Parts: sequence; structure tokens; C-alpha cells
Amino acid sequence: MVSRTGSQPLVIAHRGASGYLPEHTLAAKAVAHVMGADFIEQDVVLSADGVPLVLHDIHLEQTTDVAQRFPGRARADGRFYAIDFSLEEIRQLRVHERSAAGESGTQEAVFPERFPVQSALFGVPTLAEEIELLNGLDRSRGCSTGLYIELKSPNWHLREGADSAVAVLDVLRETGYDQRRDQVFLQCFDDATLRRLRGELRVALPLIQLLADNSWGEDTAADFDQLRSPGGLDEIARYADGIGPWIMQIYLGRDAAGQARISDLVRLAHERSLLVHPYTLRRDALPPGIASFDELLDILVGQAAVDGLFTDFPDLTRDYLCRRAAPRGTRS
Ligand code: G3P
Ligand code: CA
Repeated sequence: MVSRTGSQPLVIAHRGASGYLPEHTLAAKAVAHVMGADFIEQDVVLSADGVPLVLHDIHLEQTTDVAQRFPGRARADGRFYAIDFSLEEIRQLRVHERSAAGESGTQEAVFPERFPVQSALFGVPTLAEEIELLNGLDRSRGCSTGLYIELKSPNWHLREGADSAVAVLDVLRETGYDQRRDQVFLQCFDDATLRRLRGELRVALPLIQLLADNSWGEDTAADFDQLRSPGGLDEIARYADGIGPWIMQIYLGRDAAGQARISDLVRLAHERSLLVHPYTLRRDALPPGIASFDELLDILVGQAAVDGLFTDFPDLTRDYLCRRAAPRGTRS
């Protein structure tokens, strides 16, 4: 399933079917499964008692009601950290659509056209619970859907005295996924963590080096401009199986004639047998110069020839790939 030779690009449901339901909820994962995602993403952080939780942020306030439920538990910086809450406390939280402080200071939906931000229907899943859900759906639907786990801020966790890499590997071992090489990717922005997984921790699963922009301030010593260079990709190929670049590191905008400008990153990666899985395809947040979701897919799949796509809209992505495989007029 993870090979790139001759197959369709993988549909990777980014935080689940997060275009339709609050990110990383079990509901979003179930919908992604039914939409035919090949892989479903889990971002992972730890609770105070060391339990791997499926959460994008090390903070809780942008996607849960933690500030209302546990007032006074923020740190001096005003933020509520998942690692300060036990699993029992995490279970009391309600997850909502991602919000951020707007101009007036009130919390506003980051994606206004998505699921209502006021909802209190959902909880925070553990990694083990999500695996149980996906295994159950694989069985009842007769298919096989992969995990695509990102270790979030592993260096920050270590400074807090917690080893998120080991905690995640423990869950994979307990659920039998440590041996399912075709059904798990591990991804991280921190190159040192990936080297540690491959070396000290002897992980045989495919590893993906995520590529950020240096200006984002990821908690890593990695220099992403260097990692994207031919020499950097040579180095990545020694410990990882692929790269996860930001879309704008592949699509560079339009030239004077209106043609999409494509970087050489995919070609350079493929020359080193590295998979390329860019993030993130969003119908409601298209890159500059892109008029539609299909146009973005035409560029990434048709022109750049990527191997997989992190998408908030797995149904639209799957539909595009089906149409591409069987163009109009050839379908029965
Ligand atoms: O893991 C690929 C992509 O999800 C990286 O960005 O911030 O959505 O985790 P983020
Ligand atoms: Ca991620």
C-alpha cells in the first residue's frame, strides 16, 4: 500500500474528515473511513499520566472547552497544556471545531463554513481508542485503512519529562501495529526524532520527514531550507521513506503566462526513492492563484506527480482520483 510505483496517490484524511466534523474526533475518523481514505491521520500528544491522545496541539483551548471546565488551570502564559491534565480530566472535555481569538477578542471559527463551533457532542480520543475504532470499521466494512501518526513536539515533551515516541510505540506494540509495515506511517517535523526512531528505537515502520517553513518556529533544530536541498534529501533518504512538504513548497504560484510554477522538490525526492505526501488540501483555504479544489489536484497529482495527499476533504480527493482513473466516456 505504501509503494509509489504505478499506483494512485494515497488519500490521507488529515485529522479525519476534518472539513466536515471537528478535527480528530472519532466521528471525523469514522466519516473519513467511510469516504474511502487509504490512511487516517493521528496527531499525538501526551496526557499528564503519559497516555497518547489524538490532538493536534499541545494546548487545549482552541479545540476544547477546557477554559470553561477547568478555569484556573492555565500556565502563566495563559495556555492550557494537555500534559497538565490526567486522562480522567481529559475525558471531561468537549471538543469543538477549531477556534481562535478574532479581532474583537472573542473566539471565532477558523473555518467558518464548517461544523458549528458551539457543538459539545465530542470528546478527545486516546490513540488506543482510535485504533480500536478503525480496526472495528475495517472489520465491519471489509477493508484495511492505515494509521498515519505524527509525533507532535517531541522535544517539548522530553523537556516536560515525557517520552512521546516511546509512548506511541508502546501503543503500536500492544495493538499489533508495530509489525504492520504497510499500514502505519510515522511522521515528524523533528529530524532528530526520526533518526532516533530508526536508530536507537529500531523502528521498521515507514518514516516521513515533515517539511515546514523555517519562519513557523517548529520546536526542532532542523533547517528546513537545507533539508529541501539535494544534500538534505540525500540525508533524509538515509533514515526516512518519504517527505511531507507544505503544498507551497511544490506549487510556487503562477508565472506571467498564468502557468503553475512547480518546484523541483518532487523530482529530487523521487530520484532518491522518497515518497512525497504534501499537506494540506482544503477546499475552503485554497492557495493563491488556485480557483478550485480540482485545479489544486490537477497541479499536485497531474503535474507534480505526488504519492499521497493530506486532505481535509477525503471524499472530494477520492472522487477526483476516481475520475482521473476513469475519464468521462470510459465509465460504464
Ligand atoms: O502532518 C502533516 C500535516 O498535518 C502537518 O501539519 O500542522 O496539520 O499537523 P499539521
Ligand atoms: Ca499532522
